[in-house]
Amino acid sequence: MAHPIPSAEEVVDTLNSSEFLLDPNSFYARMRRDAPLVYIPELQTWMAFRHADVQAVFTDHARFSSKIKFPPEQKDFTQSVNFIDPPRHKSVRALAQQSFTLKRVEAMAPRIREIARGLLDTALERGEFDFILDYANPLPVIVIAEILGVPTDDTVYFTDLSNRIVTMDQGAISELAAYFRTLIAHRAEHPGEDLVTALVQAHDAGETLSEQELVDFCIVLLVGGNETTAKLIGNALLCLRDFPEMRSRLIEQPALTPAFIEEVLRLRAPVQSMPRVVRADTEMHGQTLRAGEQLEVFIGAANRDPDVFEQPDTLQLERKGRHLSFGNGIHFCLGAPLARLEARIALEHVLERLPNIAIRDDADLMPVPAYGFHGLVSMPVRT
Ligand code: HEM
Repeated sequence: MAHPIPSAEEVVDTLNSSEFLLDPNSFYARMRRDAPLVYIPELQTWMAFRHADVQAVFTDHARFSSKIKFPPEQKDFTQSVNFIDPPRHKSVRALAQQSFTLKRVEAMAPRIREIARGLLDTALERGEFDFILDYANPLPVIVIAEILGVPTDDTVYFTDLSNRIVTMDQGAISELAAYFRTLIAHRAEHPGEDLVTALVQAHDAGETLSEQELVDFCIVLLVGGNETTAKLIGNALLCLRDFPEMRSRLIEQPALTPAFIEEVLRLRAPVQSMPRVVRADTEMHGQTLRAGEQLEVFIGAANRDPDVFEQPDTLQLERKGRHLSFGNGIHFCLGAPLARLEARIALEHVLERLPNIAIRDDADLMPVPAYGFHGLVSMPVRT
C-alpha cells in the first residue's frame, strides 16, 4: 500500500512539537520509508533520513561543505574546525589534535571522578536532586574549564557564558571570544600546563593556528562539548528507565558501562542533525540538490535504520553496526573520547552511590526545545 508523503508544512509542525522532541522515532520511521529526502521551503533546506545517505554526506566532504551561512554580524566562531573545509581543515585539525590528545583526556579520569563526587555530595546535602541541573550540566563545563586552564576565580563567569553560548546568542559569542583573547595573550606570556598554552605553542610543518582559529577552537569546545555531553549523561538515565533490566547488569558489571553508553548514543543521540552546504549539483533519490543549497542530515533517524541495525529500537550491548552520533569522516567528533569518558564516569559513580536513582514519577519532562538536539532540560530524581 502506498503511503502519502508528508507535506513540508506537516514536517515543520512535527519538528516543532513537544511529542516529537520527546520521541522522534515514529516520525523518523515514516520519513525513512516514505520521504528519505525532502525539501522544506520554510527552512530553506533539504533533509535526509536514511543511514546510507547520512553516512554518504558525512564522508563526501568534497561534495558537501561544512561552511554554512552565518548572520552577517557574526565574526567570531566562523573559522572553527567544524565550519571549515580542506585543505585548511586538515592543518587546523592536526594542530588542534596535537594538543587535545588522548593522553590529556585520559589523565583527567581521576579528576572527573572527583568532580562527579563533589557535585553529588552537594546535591544530596541539599535534599532536592535534579540530575541534569545539579550533575549532568555542570560536570562537562568544570572539566573543560580545567583542561583549558580557565583560572578558578573565573569559573562562575565562565559557566554562565558557557550556558548562554548554547543558543548561539551573539552577545555571548563576542563576550566569550574576548575572554579567550585575553586568556590566550596571557598564556603566550606566561605558559602553563593547560590546553590553551599547548594550542598557542602548537606548530606543524611551519604552520600555526591564527588568533581567530585559536579563539574559535576554544569556543567550539564549549559549544560542541558541554550541552552534548550533559544530554548524553541525562539520556543514560532515560535509557535505564526504558530498559530496566540494564540497571542490575551495570551495577554488577560496571565494565559493561562503555557498551551501554554506545547504545545510549545510538538510541538517544544528543545531536540529532547536522547541516551541510551542497557544493555542486547532486542527484539523490531522483531529485537534484543544487549547488549552494543547504542539506540537513538526521543522525537520530540514521541510528535506528533497520537496514543497518537489527531490532533498532532495542538496547543491545553486543550491537553491530555503526551509529553516527559523533558524525563520520574528516569532521568526526574530536571530543568523542572525552565525552565517552565523562559519561562513563558520571554513570558509574551515580549507580555506585545511588543504585535506585530514577526519574521522579511526578516530573514534568521538558525536552530541549530544538529539533537538532535530544535530551531533557531538567530531570528531578528520587534516590
Ligand atoms: C556526547 C557528546 C558529543 C556529541 C554527541 C558530539 C557530536 C559531534 C558531531 C555530530 C560532530 C560532527 C560535526 C560535523 O560533522 O559537522 C562533532 C564534531 C566536533 N566535536 Fe563533538 N560531540 C560531543 C562532545 C564533544 C566534546 C566533549 C568536545 C570537546 C570538548 C567536542 C568537540 C568537537 C569538535 C572540535 C568537533 C569538530 C571536529 C572537526 O570538524 O574536525 N565534542 N561532535
